[in-house]
Amino acid sequence: MGKPDKTKFISRIYGYHGVTLAAMSATGIAKYWPMFEPRVPGFSHIESPYPYRFQGGDDTTSQGVAAANLLEAAILHEGPDTVAGFIAEPIQGAGGVIVPQHDYFQRIREICDKYDVLLISDEVITGFGRTGTWFGLEHFGIEPDIIQFAKGITSGYVPLGGIGVSDRIREVINASTAKNPWMHAFTYSGHPTTCAVALANLDVIESEGLVQRAATTGAYLQERLRELLSTEYVGDVRGIGMIAGVEIVANKETKEQFSPGRPFEAAMNQEMMKRGFCTRLVRDTVCIAPPLVTTEAQIDRIVDIIAESIPAAVAAVV
Ligand SMILES: Cc1ncc(COP(=O)(O)O)c(C=O)c1O
Repeated sequence: MGKPDKTKFISRIYGYHGVTLAAMSATGIAKYWPMFEPRVPGFSHIESPYPYRFQGGDDTTSQGVAAANLLEAAILHEGPDTVAGFIAEPIQGAGGVIVPQHDYFQRIREICDKYDVLLISDEVITGFGRTGTWFGLEHFGIEPDIIQFAKGITSGYVPLGGIGVSDRIREVINASTAKNPWMHAFTYSGHPTTCAVALANLDVIESEGLVQRAATTGAYLQERLRELLSTEYVGDVRGIGMIAGVEIVANKETKEQFSPGRPFEAAMNQEMMKRGFCTRLVRDTVCIAPPLVTTEAQIDRIVDIIAESIPAAVAAVV
């Protein structure tokens, strides 16, 4: 579009976008960096909106808008004519299931529009029903310019990842000519087998009403998990639909964590595994994303296991 200097990308701390070189450079979880550094130049990160811990906002600016305004500051710092895109997961998954404030993404969209920066929604986790809507960003009432997806499109039965682009971007791609060709493809681009599986899977999601089911069962999951907030070590419970995080803290007043000083995550994993629940912890947050067909009875068991495992794991590390 005649803007060749727009090559930089901004993403967020605790964002996870993969580990191939440019994706790793967009990923904002520092422990993924050292093995592959140096990172690709032109990638930078702003703070996560992380409602439980973000320090910002006041009487005139909400916390969500303050967190989003960090993008504007970063664009201005980099130079608006040099920034191509902002990439963000609607809910930060591998970073600890961080749900942004309700007004965060609207402000992000405004800023992206103001500086002609593409908004890229990484829906690898949130796409295809996980949050009770087809795509995660729907909860925040805005549309991205590019959407990237994987897991849910085939329910993982065969590997398929891809992107969707806005008409504006498609027109630019389609306008490529023999003299100025669109040089981008993979060995397995548009592979017919995986695409057939995706279509069959989407039929199942539609015919079995799994998006609606994720909304209903997900509301139950969130409600049951929120009961844990009254227990001694649960500082925060967050999520939408069938994705949730339970953040465990050593001290609810100071929000001090057990890790990294104390091996709480390993102990908690062991206690949950002993009781039959296998999932992942990130910064002392139990990350939960069960299959969309999970029943309420299974959710009860998940919540019971987490509740039982916390005191047992705490006892093992203090
Ligand atoms: C939000 C998000 N983006 C990107 C990726 C990376 O996908 P891949 O491992 O297929 O490169 C993941 C993987 O878990 C993810 O959760």
